[in-house]
Amino acid sequence: MSTPPPLSTWARNLSPSPTLAVDAKAKALQAAGEDVCGFAAGEPDFDTPEHIKEACIAALRSGKTKYAPTPGIMPLREAIAAQYGADYGLKVTPAQVVVSPGGKFSCYLGVLATCSPGDEVIIPAPYWVSYPEMVKLAGATPKFVLCDDTTAFKLTPELLESVITPRTRLLILCSPSNPSGAVYTRSEMAAIIAVAVKHNLYILSDEMYEHLVYDDAKPTCVATLSPEAEARTLVVAGFSKTYSMTGWRIGTTVAPAPLAKAIAEMQSQMTSNVTTFAQYGALAALTEKEKTKAALATMLTAFDRRRKFLHAELNKIAGIRCLLAQGAFYLFPNISSFGLKDTEFCDRLLDAEKVAAVPGSAFGAEGYLRLSYATGDEIIAKGVERLARFCATLQR
Ligand SMILES: Cc1ncc(COP(=O)(O)O)c(C=O)c1O
Repeated sequence: MSTPPPLSTWARNLSPSPTLAVDAKAKALQAAGEDVCGFAAGEPDFDTPEHIKEACIAALRSGKTKYAPTPGIMPLREAIAAQYGADYGLKVTPAQVVVSPGGKFSCYLGVLATCSPGDEVIIPAPYWVSYPEMVKLAGATPKFVLCDDTTAFKLTPELLESVITPRTRLLILCSPSNPSGAVYTRSEMAAIIAVAVKHNLYILSDEMYEHLVYDDAKPTCVATLSPEAEARTLVVAGFSKTYSMTGWRIGTTVAPAPLAKAIAEMQSQMTSNVTTFAQYGALAALTEKEKTKAALATMLTAFDRRRKFLHAELNKIAGIRCLLAQGAFYLFPNISSFGLKDTEFCDRLLDAEKVAAVPGSAFGAEGYLRLSYATGDEIIAKGVERLARFCATLQR
């Protein structure tokens, strides 16, 4: 029997998601009876709020089981548009809104709508793991710019200028950031966006964690920075993190109408609409405001408590340096003083102490760990104690 032909270049060049891989390994150990402290998963440990589930069930029972318009049911697109007005004062029409099967797919469609083969895309590192692979799948080239803990993991206008070439087409930003938790101030963001506008770049602003901010940090909706910014920005967000709806697969894009139309047309050939009855659950998240606000407040209180605790405990460990991030649910401690590659650090940590963490190199920043605190307080306390014990066995 002859061997079948090789897989496509797309399939061969793709790196599978390292965060999902670490999480899968930790879950396998757990299934085998090990007491694992998992800091790897990027999802809230809370259930979806009841009123959202009930709205979905009611929709399912009432027969909302057929195809829906590709960019989303109109009431949901209207509610999303209205939310941008209420949150940021941004005037958005439903024609600018596309609801996609997960924020991940929203990002991918955004890249596909703006980039052609040969284009370059600037991605500040540490970055969310999927951006480079999406760019490669579009035939474009990711260009990384490292923003380490000396600049609080933030891109500066000067750094951005230094990596722009005539082929640069798109800048991808993520604030609050996965993996660093960094949140740009409005003026920091404005200075970066001014450079992107000057060079006529598209901007994909991943604002998936917009509502998960602490202390005095505020999210910036990049499309609100100037009319020029609005004309070239795709704002990606969604329901996964804010409303604890990761399994529902509902992401959103707000973009200038011609871009939104292009994105919806691509989606119409790839996946069609997001599960129809799930969209009614999402609608309840936006319309039953008081219930949603209460659920979000409960989650934020827990996340903030865990953030402060984990940050304080990490900085007590000799050899670890950790900034107090103000967004998302991640901390990104520097472990470079141990002189180990971060992948080796994580492998040994999991083997020796059953603590699952994702190495910074998975996010383009060697020498760090990404720790998610979207997990139980006891797991965090036990996990950081084990991490300290592990670090004490290493040379510095
Ligand atoms: C920065 C960022 N953007 C987008 C997504 C995608 O979210 P979704 O689960 O809606 O696909 C994630 C999820 O991990 C994320 O961390």
